[in-house]
Amino acid sequence: MLGIYVHVPFCERKCIYCAFSSFMNKDTEEENYIRYLIKEIENSYKTYNIEKKQNVDTIYIGGGTPSILKVENVKKILVAIQNNFNVTKDCEITIECNPNSVDYEKLKSYKKLGINRISFGIQSLNDEDLKFLNRLHNKNQAIESIRMAKKAGFENISADLLIGIPNQTVNSFTEQLKKLIELGVKHFSCYMLQIENGTPLENMVKKHQIILPTDDQSVEIYNNCATFLKKLGFNRYEVSNFALDGVESKHNSKYWVGEDYIGFGLSAHSYINKIRSANPNNFEKYYKGEKTFTEKLSKEELIEEHIMLGLRCKYGVDIEYLKNLGYNIEENENLTDFIDKNIIKKDKQRLFLNPDFYGVNNYIILKLLP
Ligand SMILES: C[S@@+](CC[C@H](N)C(=O)[O-])C[C@H]1O[C@@H](n2cnc3c(N)ncnc32)[C@H](O)[C@@H]1O
Ligand code: SF4
Repeated sequence: MLGIYVHVPFCERKCIYCAFSSFMNKDTEEENYIRYLIKEIENSYKTYNIEKKQNVDTIYIGGGTPSILKVENVKKILVAIQNNFNVTKDCEITIECNPNSVDYEKLKSYKKLGINRISFGIQSLNDEDLKFLNRLHNKNQAIESIRMAKKAGFENISADLLIGIPNQTVNSFTEQLKKLIELGVKHFSCYMLQIENGTPLENMVKKHQIILPTDDQSVEIYNNCATFLKKLGFNRYEVSNFALDGVESKHNSKYWVGEDYIGFGLSAHSYINKIRSANPNNFEKYYKGEKTFTEKLSKEELIEEHIMLGLRCKYGVDIEYLKNLGYNIEENENLTDFIDKNIIKKDKQRLFLNPDFYGVNNYIILKLLP
């Protein structure tokens, strides 16, 4: 079934590591943006050549910082989606929230709007880390935001954490996981800090102003995180994602399985009927309805994408699907070796990467491409 992503490209302040599409012009641009967003939602059946009122079982409002929007604008977005799509009763509706930009009233309003999943950008529970990252919240606000979300009735709460911050240790990372689990977090996205082009972090690294953990140290923290979470019943269903039973993100799983989704808003990508397209990362161009690209994926691209996504998550790679696209992966010499070494597991129809090797998935994926 179709999933919908809505991008909110506003932040109060930029974090030093972030290259996502977000700008600090909410005060002047919010109303305009919402107007065009709704127009885009209303026109989408023409843009993507699909039937009106398609069934939708996941909606993900991401950013940027969706929680800095006025609640009435979040409502307008959801109403526009409901008017133009058939939102299923059990639809997973997520909103990304920064801990400093929510309060109890706002969270209760989200609940009333039918939002049933909160993804908090916690990043770290250490005040020094948070300052270094240029976050606007501190440890206490992070903790309080989760408590408020629980009190407002949210059961499905996720936390984003970063691995690879200076001075982070296996112990400090485990302690914050413990605290978050105690607070009721049921899902974690633990991302290895990436040095993105053009970010202040990249500049600091180039000028040797900071010392980041080595790759080996970060992998050690990541591996320990996985072991610790596993003991507590968290299933690693994608390289960076861990969930208790029943709360795996249905929306993000669509990306990994290759299901259709439409992305609305600045810089949002869509994948529908094997056609990928992207909106511009520029307000004027977006308001004009331009697309950065629209391309039908070739067989080669479909093969590559299926292997790259499938081996990063528990859903695996469908051997028959690849055969139909012209690639018999079972003839790849490296595969036998990986199976013998228990790096790849095989059942009748699918191949799975042994989660112990998620940390080096890129190397294995490269070896299995046509
Ligand atoms: C685009 S943000 C939106 C969420 C929200 N604005 C926040 O930051 O709290 C989604 C997540 O991407 C992750 N992220 C952003 N930049 C990253 C980077 N350079 N390396 C690793 N993870 C990154 C952060 O963990 C963040 O929570
Ligand atoms: S990490 Fe989140 S809050 Fe920070 S700049 Fe990126 S989108 Fe904004």
